[in-house]
Amino acid sequence: MKLPFNLFCLVLCLAPIYSSFVAPLCHENERAALLQFKLSLSTNQFASTDSFAYPKTETWKLAGNESDCCSWDGIECSEQSHHVISLDLSSSYLYGLINPNSTLFELVHLQRLNLADNDFRYSLIPSKINHLHNLQYLNLSRSVFSGQVPTKISQLSNLISLDLSYNVDPSSGEKLLNLGSLSLKFLVQSFPNLKVFNLDQVSISSRVPKVLAKFTSLRLISLHDCGLHNAFPKASKERFQIHWAS
Ligand SMILES: *[C@@H]1O[C@H](CO)[C@@H](O)[C@H](O)[C@H]1NC(C)=O
Ligand SMILES: *[C@@H]1O[C@H](CO)[C@@H](O)[C@H](O)[C@H]1NC(C)=O
Ligand SMILES: *[C@@H]1O[C@H](CO)[C@@H](O)[C@H](O)[C@H]1NC(C)=O
Repeated sequence: MKLPFNLFCLVLCLAPIYSSFVAPLCHENERAALLQFKLSLSTNQFASTDSFAYPKTETWKLAGNESDCCSWDGIECSEQSHHVISLDLSSSYLYGLINPNSTLFELVHLQRLNLADNDFRYSLIPSKINHLHNLQYLNLSRSVFSGQVPTKISQLSNLISLDLSYNVDPSSGEKLLNLGSLSLKFLVQSFPNLKVFNLDQVSISSRVPKVLAKFTSLRLISLHDCGLHNAFPKASKERFQIHWAS
């Protein structure tokens, strides 16, 4: 019988060829989470200041050949698992409040998240940021976040780079973010792999801890205009770069 063999071959011989030409489709739950996040915000051309800014989420669609979220602007997926591992929505004209329960926090495979240079309208940094426990790079700079940095951010123990700088009021220029009861010492000790830490214009009431001097993974800590009073321990300056001015 020839037919069964042909059928057999059709499946077995063509399947690998077919699959090698089809782009890897992203996970459906992650695509839904991304689309929901997109819908929760508007875009406004005054929300970003970078001259290369453009609305990246406008290419995010659930239509035919464009529904693979791994190919959307700002998104990178793992080649093996196809999970979304990087989301770069910096300078994307995003405008509006970030819901504390945002579906953004369902993207638990994220290793990089960049929301810098948008206008989140004095949103608090949601405590659910700790759901993104694989994060190595987090950039929330220049995006009009306000209030206290949530304690739970300290659970992101894989962070290598953390930038919370220049969250200031767009009209008055006033500093909007503060570390509240979080001490610089506690934070620095929570991130054993941290190399870059930018806190420019974040209000810090704690003193600069001596422990910074022992903290060998740090390469750069930037503390411009944080309202700090005591100077750095001398030893620390020899080990890593400090950008600092009151
Ligand atoms: C999707 O299909 C449309 C029409 O068939 C085509 O114009 C467009 O370039 C395709 N987009 C991609 C990303 O392949
Ligand atoms: C977030 O979700 C929690 C639990 O599901 C709920 O209690 C809370 O009201 C929600 N908050 C907002 C702002 O939607
Ligand atoms: C964070 O994003 C801003 C704006 O895009 C950029 O200038 C800055 O270098 C980034 N910070 C880090 C640590 O990569």
